[in-house]
Amino acid sequence: MALTDPSRRLQAMPPYMFAELERRIAEKRKAGIDVISLGIGDPDEPTYPHIVKAMQEAVAESANQKYPTNRGRDEFRGALSEFYGERFGVEIDPDGEVIPAIGAKECIYNLCFAFLDPDDVALASDPGYPVYTGGPILAGAEPVLLPLLPELGFGPDLGAIDPEAARRARLIFINYPNNPTGAVAPEGFFELVVSFAREHDLLVVHDNAYSETTYDGYTAPSFLATPGAKEVGVEVFSLSKGFNMTGWRCAAILGNREAIKTYWRLKTNVDSGLFEAIQLAGAAALRGPRGPIERMNETYARRRDLVVSALQEIGVSVKPPRGTIYVWAPVPDGHTSASFAELVLEQTAVVVSPGSMYGPSGEGFFRISLTTPDERISEAVERMCEHLA
Ligand SMILES: Cc1ncc(COP(=O)(O)O)c(C=O)c1O
Repeated sequence: MALTDPSRRLQAMPPYMFAELERRIAEKRKAGIDVISLGIGDPDEPTYPHIVKAMQEAVAESANQKYPTNRGRDEFRGALSEFYGERFGVEIDPDGEVIPAIGAKECIYNLCFAFLDPDDVALASDPGYPVYTGGPILAGAEPVLLPLLPELGFGPDLGAIDPEAARRARLIFINYPNNPTGAVAPEGFFELVVSFAREHDLLVVHDNAYSETTYDGYTAPSFLATPGAKEVGVEVFSLSKGFNMTGWRCAAILGNREAIKTYWRLKTNVDSGLFEAIQLAGAAALRGPRGPIERMNETYARRRDLVVSALQEIGVSVKPPRGTIYVWAPVPDGHTSASFAELVLEQTAVVVSPGSMYGPSGEGFFRISLTTPDERISEAVERMCEHLA
């Protein structure tokens, strides 16, 4: 083995499939072409001013500049508990049923190390956020894909899971409102997941990254509001998307007390917790006004409508999503996800994400992110109508 060879676990990670697409984007930009990226889901608007102000004050306070604890500040845990009570009707004990996480990504990855051994299985939504498969692989375990089926409202068919995989499974990763499909939790699905977890003795991890970003009067529930959910599951709540805080790395895990203790035990060996000033700013976000979130959602809904009508105009059949910052649409006949993304780039200099990037069941779809300013979205949409119709 050579000096710089990656570990076998790292080598087992799937290759990064879109290096070629990225190279082509860079080439176009270098040639002076105005490329519009609708690829990445990173809010373009700034963090709300009251949160920034709370951070400015907290960061200047020397008591907040020390090592944090992984247990978290009372203020942040208290604010999360209040938020869960008021927003979701879920009772959370701030002293045992919630601790901070350094972003949902960290939390999901570390949950794999906290709960998975070699030969264990993690059931992972497909298409899905890549850490649901990468985390288990890096932990030496095996991800088993749960295809999300359009005919089930992009829910998985739990009855179709291989019994041997269900027997070996210790974790199941689900996520609604869903990235990348934009689907909201299918009616009755969370209840089915609770029964499935009981039957197979596994821990549910609900990735709640998008609950605050919904449209058309839809309000996303917490998985923890499902009867019995706290006995079998945890929820990862992130402030990244709903509060325009992706760079801050501010999230939390809530729910099953014993599972949280195990995650905490892992984390005390890995990191030193979430910067306390960020926790205080997170508390200000959770206790702050809803107005900025609602205005942001109006902005996304406007952009969503622009994108959906343009896609319909070029013959793509797509329904407007009721949640997340993504439009998920089938590629036109005769195309794969990658060939369509390439065509869009070549003909319009607009970047869309090929669905296959999010897992094999994403093949045949593409994703458009709504986190680009209105005038750029309009420009992208005009180019698509002009060149792809
Ligand atoms: C489903 C899902 N989970 C988690 C994350 C990451 O969240 P965080 O910024 O809190 O790490 C993302 C980001 O795109 C996501 O789409």
